[in-house]
Amino acid sequence: MNEHRIPLAGVIGSPIAHSRSPRLHKHWLRVYGLPGDYVPLHVEPEDLVEVIRSLPKMGFVGVNITIPHKVAVLELADLVTDRATLIGAANTLIFRKDGKIHADNTDGYGFIANLKQNAPGWNPAAGPAAVLGAGGAARAVIASLIEVGVPEILLSNRTRPKSDALKSEFGQRVRVVDWVQAGNMMEEAATVVNTTSLGMVGAAEFRVPLDGLRPGTVVSDLVYAPLKTRLLVEAEAAGCVAVDGLGMLLHQAVPAFERWFGIRPEVTQATRDAVIG
Ligand code: ATR
Repeated sequence: MNEHRIPLAGVIGSPIAHSRSPRLHKHWLRVYGLPGDYVPLHVEPEDLVEVIRSLPKMGFVGVNITIPHKVAVLELADLVTDRATLIGAANTLIFRKDGKIHADNTDGYGFIANLKQNAPGWNPAAGPAAVLGAGGAARAVIASLIEVGVPEILLSNRTRPKSDALKSEFGQRVRVVDWVQAGNMMEEAATVVNTTSLGMVGAAEFRVPLDGLRPGTVVSDLVYAPLKTRLLVEAEAAGCVAVDGLGMLLHQAVPAFERWFGIRPEVTQATRDAVIG
């Protein structure tokens, strides 16, 4: 890569117009006075390899990867980090100077960093974590919860075989709970996480019964549109510590920005404001 090129980054997905990542990275570039830019790239699966192979030639130092490409990019990377292998998907590519493509997954890091920042007394070892959903986001959340020492994961998903599959991958610390019993998990949980799309603008309503929530439980929703989901509103009313999903989006971007642009950015209220617009 030529030293005089302006470093570019971006996010590859389909669709991509709704992505908040361009606002986030452009905000940090401005705040830290760095040369560079970050663009949304709408790419279809059949063009993915060709596009990614071309990007370094145009000055790209890396890209974020989102739906539907997070699994496919593992195939074309020269190096895949352990955590991306464990999660089975990558959200960040780094185009190294030697031409090698490095794939990482920072979603689990972002999830934990968000909890640490917004629920400062959070103790992962305090008790089981209840996780709703068994898709890609759940994999990142479960891997990171196990890594920080949560003693047990209670996992519930509408489609039971998907949670059973995650149990066989992540092991004995995962206990599968039937979807109709999902509300009951809350009574035992010190941490509750919604990784499903329920409650998101345009998706089905979040209807899991929440009367089992106990005061002091840390409750996080990965849905960030709306910012205050029904889960978070009811959690607050029950005396829980509610943590919204926007923070995870912001924190997962920190390691990527640092690798691409050379400065570790801070997540502050101004960062949130810039992304909410
Ligand atoms: P992501 O990468 O964001 O996790 P995903 O892999 O498509 O996206 O997973 C979406 C999750 O939301 C799944 O756990 C899905 O449940 P199923 O495995 O049963 O499909 C969950 N989900 C989506 N719509 C749902 C609904 N109406 N009721 C219950 N769960 C739902």
